[in-house]
Amino acid sequence: MNRLQRFIFSARRLSPPIIPPTCFLHRQPFSTSVTDASSSASSSASKSTSTLSSLKEDELAKFAAIADSWWHSEGPFKPLHLMNPTRLAFIRSTLCRHFSKDPSSARPFEGLRLIDVGCGGGLLSEPLARMGATVTGIDAVDKNVKIARLHADIDPVTSSIEYHCTTAEKLVDEGKTFDAVLALEVIEHVANPAEFCKSLSALTIPNGATIVSTINRSMRSYASAIVAAEYILHWLPKGTHQWSSFLTPEELTMILHRASIDVKEMAGFVYNPLTGRWLLSEDISVNFIAYGTKRNDLGNEDISASELHNSS
Ligand SMILES: C[S@@+](CC[C@H](N)C(=O)[O-])C[C@H]1O[C@@H](n2cnc3c(N)ncnc32)[C@H](O)[C@@H]1O
Repeated sequence: MNRLQRFIFSARRLSPPIIPPTCFLHRQPFSTSVTDASSSASSSASKSTSTLSSLKEDELAKFAAIADSWWHSEGPFKPLHLMNPTRLAFIRSTLCRHFSKDPSSARPFEGLRLIDVGCGGGLLSEPLARMGATVTGIDAVDKNVKIARLHADIDPVTSSIEYHCTTAEKLVDEGKTFDAVLALEVIEHVANPAEFCKSLSALTIPNGATIVSTINRSMRSYASAIVAAEYILHWLPKGTHQWSSFLTPEELTMILHRASIDVKEMAGFVYNPLTGRWLLSEDISVNFIAYGTKRNDLGNEDISASELHNSS
């Protein structure tokens, strides 16, 4: 085991879920309003029957407008290109441990069925397929899915990826399940984070794994992920992120817990401006990633009054 693996294995192992104070329970990120999904890009993805829609039209429009640049490593998705090796290291470690696979193998995910929810142009789906997984990538923006398809078809290994313009909740309605469900940098763009997590959970087989990454709603994230990234460095188009849509690690842990996913491990991503690289870190104050396991129980668990009382 190398140093990085040892770090990931030991960093941020969370035992019981963290329950935040009651004041978090009614904040904006837990809105349950149904967002109208009328644009052509998402109309086919919006017809879910049993679950509230996760679609936020204004967010989808932002991604549709820059869909052509998914694979331009110096374009608006540069931060995701730079982050990719780091987040893949976390995914490789956690999923190999979870499914008892050999992390040093060239194709450690052989035999696993993974879904990349909000796959965009396929930046994550492709390396997952190269690591041997059977990958399904879904995105609510049709243009993203088309770009992902075109790019994946360049290489016979990635041409096996199944891409669909749809949503997690629609696949839940269709009864689909996967060994592991990944939603990286998506939850901050959806309408109902708690409902979205329920869909991620329903897509995960019992005892399967779920991985979610996002941005912490902290003062540091306002300074770095919005002011610096959008207004000073121009890494991202202005308005890409809404600070109020970010979730704290405690909030994410709680809504995953309520959706039958127990978070087992978290790590932060920290940018080193000198090397231009992202590193895994214990610092979860801005970008962070969480790995959880799906409880083998029925339905979603409500937090009991005593749990809330004890935590506030
Ligand atoms: C910041 S990008 C992340 C892309 C990819 N997960 C990655 O990390 O490389 C967010 C993606 O989520 C998609 N998205 C936003 N809301 C969605 C929803 N409700 N269902 C599915 N995809 C959604 C967007 O179209 C966009 O491609």
